[in-house]
Amino acid sequence: MPTETLADFRSDTVTRPTPEMYEAMARAELGDDVLGDDPTVKALEAEAAVRFGKEAAVFVPSGTMANQAAMMAWLRPGDEVLCEAASHVFNFEGGGMARLAGAQARQIPGVRGQMPIALLEETLAAIRPGNEHQPRTRLVAVENTHNLAGGAVLACDYLERVRALADERGLVVHLDGARIFNAAVATGTPLARYGALADSVSCCLSKGLSAPAGSLLLGPVAFIAEARRARKVLGGAMRQSGILAAAGRVALATMIERLADDHRRARALAAGLAELDWIDIDPGAVETNIVRFAIRGYPGGAHALQAALAARGVRTIAFSPTRMRMVTHKDVGDEHVAMALTAFRGETPAAA
Ligand SMILES: Cc1ncc(COP(=O)(O)O)c(C=O)c1O
Repeated sequence: MPTETLADFRSDTVTRPTPEMYEAMARAELGDDVLGDDPTVKALEAEAAVRFGKEAAVFVPSGTMANQAAMMAWLRPGDEVLCEAASHVFNFEGGGMARLAGAQARQIPGVRGQMPIALLEETLAAIRPGNEHQPRTRLVAVENTHNLAGGAVLACDYLERVRALADERGLVVHLDGARIFNAAVATGTPLARYGALADSVSCCLSKGLSAPAGSLLLGPVAFIAEARRARKVLGGAMRQSGILAAAGRVALATMIERLADDHRRARALAAGLAELDWIDIDPGAVETNIVRFAIRGYPGGAHALQAALAARGVRTIAFSPTRMRMVTHKDVGDEHVAMALTAFRGETPAAA
């Protein structure tokens, strides 16, 4: 491993706070948020609610807690959630939906993160709310952008159709918007449009927006009151959390539009990787800041390549013997993209 990492493409979560964030944290007006009087947390929650056109918001430590608090607030034990098979809320939150909300997930295999509408219709048509044999299907979860689908954006017309189906069946829609800012910037969609298409929205300030920690859950007043109870149970009610919220306010105010730079660099990275004949990648599939690809013929596979790249100062993530991911963000510039491509070229396997 290198002594110094020069280009860290593992995730947009590695971003460091901006100087303005440090400044805001140092002068943040603080209170005790558990007692409800941290003015900086209150200001962040109010600003976010306005941006998404939601009645209320609650500040939580992580995206996982935002999603799980939403599940706990919306669901009763035995309820069913329809979610895309590769969704974060189902795959990467420690089984929280079952463990914390007591709910079961019905996984719908998706295409680029979208549960096919026909499959959703078919699934929902089989629901008999009055039938005591069946679970109570209560919620449809969508993820935008979709992490495992390589940062794919869920288009608004798709979300409208999901919304309409949910309305027909009296279901709530939860949007895991950990990277909703990327979707908004990539498509020019106002955040309030996304807010209008879901009953609840989670979003992360600590990913592309570069705050050190913190996420928000947004929705109707009564739901947010329930979510606050869930946050308390989960140990996520913090005291002088205004120090984090101060960075979050700077994130919302200054860090959204620049995500377009990350998207441009992700496309450049993908185009460069596509020139290597031992890498399988569709550059056209890169819509935001996540670049996923497969490798062929590298001795020892993707984990060995990950280590070799790290020795050249380029950090990536191997997901399997063949699959890898790289993410662009504030702390990687054009020079890091160039450096990464040089490192990949230098690792071209002899057989390729
Ligand atoms: C789509 C999605 N949802 C939720 C989360 C969870 O966020 P956190 O790591 O802050 O718990 C992530 C994290 O990468 C994510 O990609």
